[in-house]
Amino acid sequence: MKIFRTANKIFEFKKLSILENKIIGFVPTMGALHQGHLALVRQAKKESDYCIVSIFVNPKQFNNIDDYNNYPKSIEKDISLLKECNCDILYLPENNDIYGNYQGYKMDFEGLDNVLEGKYRTGHFQGVVDVVYRLFDIIKPDKSYFGIKDYQQLLIIKKMIKQAGFNIEIVECPIVREKSGLAMSSRNMRLSEKQKNNAAKIYEIIRNKKFSIDDNPKQIENQISQEINNIPDLKTEYVIFCEQDSLNQAYQFEKNNGVMLCVAVYCDKVRLIDNFFYVFK
Ligand code: PAJ
Repeated sequence: MKIFRTANKIFEFKKLSILENKIIGFVPTMGALHQGHLALVRQAKKESDYCIVSIFVNPKQFNNIDDYNNYPKSIEKDISLLKECNCDILYLPENNDIYGNYQGYKMDFEGLDNVLEGKYRTGHFQGVVDVVYRLFDIIKPDKSYFGIKDYQQLLIIKKMIKQAGFNIEIVECPIVREKSGLAMSSRNMRLSEKQKNNAAKIYEIIRNKKFSIDDNPKQIENQISQEINNIPDLKTEYVIFCEQDSLNQAYQFEKNNGVMLCVAVYCDKVRLIDNFFYVFK
């Protein structure tokens, strides 16, 4: 696996004739890699000729300085995990390589940044778009891999691609979970074993929640929220049913139409997100 630390190295690599007609698959990450990330890398590897992974803890997308400062880092382990997955190139930029001569990319979020994560983490998605636009511009991949775990991010990146005119296929990858059901996340590293067991109840509750098409979504949201808040260490920030494409809040359930439940929950000081798609038959 080659490790490049500057955009210039990527540009040099992209000029190589061996790359003609070759498919480049790209997985952007912030490191502290786990099996959720590696599933994206394996899929990229399967579907492309060259797999590029980036690790960059993007300061612009953290609305909370403590979260940024405490963001887990495990670069040596990340490198060996990526080698095991036969990743071809790891791009490890410095801040200046990303933001040196670049102010960011202005897009029309069409409201997608005002709800869910956008509502509670002001500026977060602008930061995500800024870095992903720049990474796409440097790497110019054919395909890029994103997890459904960060569902709102995935929708925003798809919108950005259309608006910016990038010719990149976005591949959506399912949520990888611990055996306990807890959605894998770099932030889980900050949880004790006991907290992890408690946090695993989030998925248990949302997956097993029984309700019918005639129920009022608001009431079910409140019940789920209460059930989660009854678990030690857990405190919900939001529990919201929304339409799958627009993320507009669902005020009623509809036959043959799926509905996405999105949750953000604090486990002590660690903020976790998860989601679950329900379909009414
Ligand atoms: P990060 O949180 O490191 O996640 C990188 C990618 O891995 C994202 O597409 C995310 O959805 C996916 N991912 C994380 N946990 C997953 C899981 N349990 N199952 C499946 N996929 C999972 O998302 C970011 O970084 C950043 O915002 C980034 C896009 C890199 C921009 O800075």
